[in-house]
Amino acid sequence: MGYFLGIDIGTSGVKVLILDESARVIGSVNQDYPLYSPYSGWFEQDPEEIWQGTLKAVNTVIDKYSLAPKEIKGIGLSGQMHSAIFLDENHRVLRKAILWNDTRTTKQCRQIEELVGKEDLHQEACNPALEGFTAPKVFWVRENEPNIYAKTRWIILPKDYIRYRITGQIQMEISDAAGTLFLNIVKQKWSDLILERLDIDPNLLPPLVNSSEVAGYTTLEFEQLTNIPVGTPVVGGGADNACGAIGAGIVKEGRCMISLGTSGVMLAHLDQPILLNEGTVHIFNSAVTDRYYMMGVMLASGLSYSWIKEILAEDLSYQEMEELATQSPAGSNSLIYLPYLCGERTPHGDGAARGVFFGLSQSHTKKDLLRAVLEGVAFSFRDSVQLLRKAGWSGNNVRAIGGGAKSRLWCEIIASVTGLNVEVLASNEGPALGAAILAGVGVGTFKDLAQVSDSIVTTIDVIQPNPEWIGRYNQTYQIYTSLYPALKPLYELL
Ligand code: XUL
Repeated sequence: MGYFLGIDIGTSGVKVLILDESARVIGSVNQDYPLYSPYSGWFEQDPEEIWQGTLKAVNTVIDKYSLAPKEIKGIGLSGQMHSAIFLDENHRVLRKAILWNDTRTTKQCRQIEELVGKEDLHQEACNPALEGFTAPKVFWVRENEPNIYAKTRWIILPKDYIRYRITGQIQMEISDAAGTLFLNIVKQKWSDLILERLDIDPNLLPPLVNSSEVAGYTTLEFEQLTNIPVGTPVVGGGADNACGAIGAGIVKEGRCMISLGTSGVMLAHLDQPILLNEGTVHIFNSAVTDRYYMMGVMLASGLSYSWIKEILAEDLSYQEMEELATQSPAGSNSLIYLPYLCGERTPHGDGAARGVFFGLSQSHTKKDLLRAVLEGVAFSFRDSVQLLRKAGWSGNNVRAIGGGAKSRLWCEIIASVTGLNVEVLASNEGPALGAAILAGVGVGTFKDLAQVSDSIVTTIDVIQPNPEWIGRYNQTYQIYTSLYPALKPLYELL
């Protein structure tokens, strides 16, 4: 039997999954690595720590499932989008990666809009300039760390960097390149117009590869580190959301998923790209060749819950936290949480926004605060549902993936707040599964990406809106949506 490894380079850590040739998941392991936040709104990671974490996870998964490394027939990678890694001419890392949820670049976004022109930027990149995207980070380094910029030979994304460490080839894969703001996403090539107007040397951007294309082969050094034989094929892989969609069967028009990872994502498949002339819904290339998706992105969904755990419930398991939150009623005894811990992309596109508990009183307990966090993220999903509906999505069901999807309470709150039925999947493996499937397609074991993605998904539960909560949530959502406009001028002062 042959196996495929799916490696997902996340924000809190890496996950490595094993898939067999009949598309059955054998198992997976997770390995954490540090996340640095030196100032409010800044997030960085050390690519070397990501690499060491990846090696550890690959070796652990091989040991744990007693896999013979020579039976690994292919490797696929997925990863956090947009995060910028700067390499010198010897491929050495020049500074820590600046991550997707880092919002230090508001000024640079306005500069980019000015230089490219909002209309032309939309025509080429199909997206507006938002703080999290790669281009503003490149601008920030050019302005604030000119010495680093002068030494930069390559700008690369996390999973493409890890693929480089595995294969020795510097490349960028298209579904991830879409999130840089340097790609013409319809032509699927670097945008001459954007690069020229931003005065970015096109040679800084790696050659492009497709998601399911074999992009390179494992090196002898990688064999020495993992026992996976030199010459094992490694495919391009995909952005984590693109790979998450593959793992959840989001490969047909009308299908939609929510991802409850560090970020919160609401993503709908598109057969054709669409041009939304304003707003914060993103349009990117799918991992299925010539297909697309649109999505709303919240910067702190799982992050909100892990943050509240850290400060209020460090000694509790997520299961125990859920039991406590269940004891608070819908509406959390009139407590509302805005999940803007590190600014927000959808719907506000505002790097200055910050989190809020609104309505706190001395009668509130830990139970209310925990539930309010779950509800605040759900309200934010409702914002995205409305934007996706405006953009043409008309479904009633969403498939849930990511760590947060394991919480029945959270799924029920999201269903009740958004009015959607939340489908729970048998295999909630997220992007690592999509990455492993791409490897299987790349080496020719799986014939058709969309077909295999569609066929592996089994829904084990459909969580419907709770009729007893809907009225309360509709009322609370009205207050929730009034809070951001009221606070916006104050965020600037903060
Ligand atoms: C998407 C985004 C996040 C990261 C999380 O635009 O920034 O979902 O991909 O890893």
